Amino acid sequence: MEELSFKRHRRLRRTSSMRALVRETTLSKDDLIYPMFIVEGENVKKEVSSMPGVYQVSLDHLTEQLQELVKLGIRSVLLFGIPKQKDDVGTQAYCETGIVQEALRKIKNEFPEIITVADTCLCEYTSHGHCGVIHDGDVHNDQSLELHVQTAISQAKAGADIIAPSNMMDGFVATIRKGLDKAGFADIPIMSYSVKYASSHYGPFREAAEGAPQFGDRKSYQMDPANRLEAFREAASDISEGADFLIVKPALSYLDIIRDVKERFNAPLVAYNVSGEYAMVKAAAQNGWIDEKTIVLEQLTSMKRAGADLIITYFAKDAAKWIEEGE
Ligand code: PBG
Ligand code: ZN
Repeated sequence: MEELSFKRHRRLRRTSSMRALVRETTLSKDDLIYPMFIVEGENVKKEVSSMPGVYQVSLDHLTEQLQELVKLGIRSVLLFGIPKQKDDVGTQAYCETGIVQEALRKIKNEFPEIITVADTCLCEYTSHGHCGVIHDGDVHNDQSLELHVQTAISQAKAGADIIAPSNMMDGFVATIRKGLDKAGFADIPIMSYSVKYASSHYGPFREAAEGAPQFGDRKSYQMDPANRLEAFREAASDISEGADFLIVKPALSYLDIIRDVKERFNAPLVAYNVSGEYAMVKAAAQNGWIDEKTIVLEQLTSMKRAGADLIITYFAKDAAKWIEEGE
């Protein structure tokens, strides 16, 4: 018999059980955070046209929505609010009776075991749609910070378990941390949108959250998609300012960044599988061009393989079902 020198990798791929035995990455329901859009008004359950299966819901629909999540085994939600009244300074973001504050109180009252993550930003609440206050045609960093701190504190008061600032102002983690501590919320963690790119993948979200900028774009505060080293500077400052979780956003075009940030910084890493990533898969699936279940599970698994510990995804409910079903 002739000597052969090649390896037989296929030995470990022969059966489903063998593949399960050597699988390196698994997706769990506990990895999933489900984003929700809460609107003012009554009896609203309005599908977002660019995000089939995602709805804007009013407070009176929250209980049924949360019951569905609990049944599926999802235990964390990320809350976005859509107020009736917008103004220059986003008053409804930090108002005690703001829509997110009301939603937080309701959820914590009815589902105390659910983890509520509050997105801390102003863009859904400002008439101009930017993530802070405008001065000379651009978002003013330090003046915006004061309002973000107020927003975070009012969310913590209403029962937020985690504060997730997405505004990308410089110093937002330091100022929010200090504000929370002074207000008696030293135990509330910050999940920072540390590495957030000025991406075109947020289009459908801006319809869902009604928070599109009315002029210009977000390139003076969100990151340039071409940059990698800058992501390390952003993550480093957030960690030193007291961030407990780091978010990389979007996810799929930035798997390299997820890997890099996870390897360099010792913090739970969250991938944000954003609205545009959701919409593209949905559209292709609705056309029968791809198999939605296997595509979504493959994409979410890839985010974990890249280094994500947690995933914020509009697919959370479907993914939970599919994880339960198995292969
Ligand atoms: C608001 C915010 C955005 C997203 C999360 N928080 C939009 C933006 O920055 O323009 C995007 C989420 C998504 O696309 O799913 N600061
Ligand atoms: Zn914003």
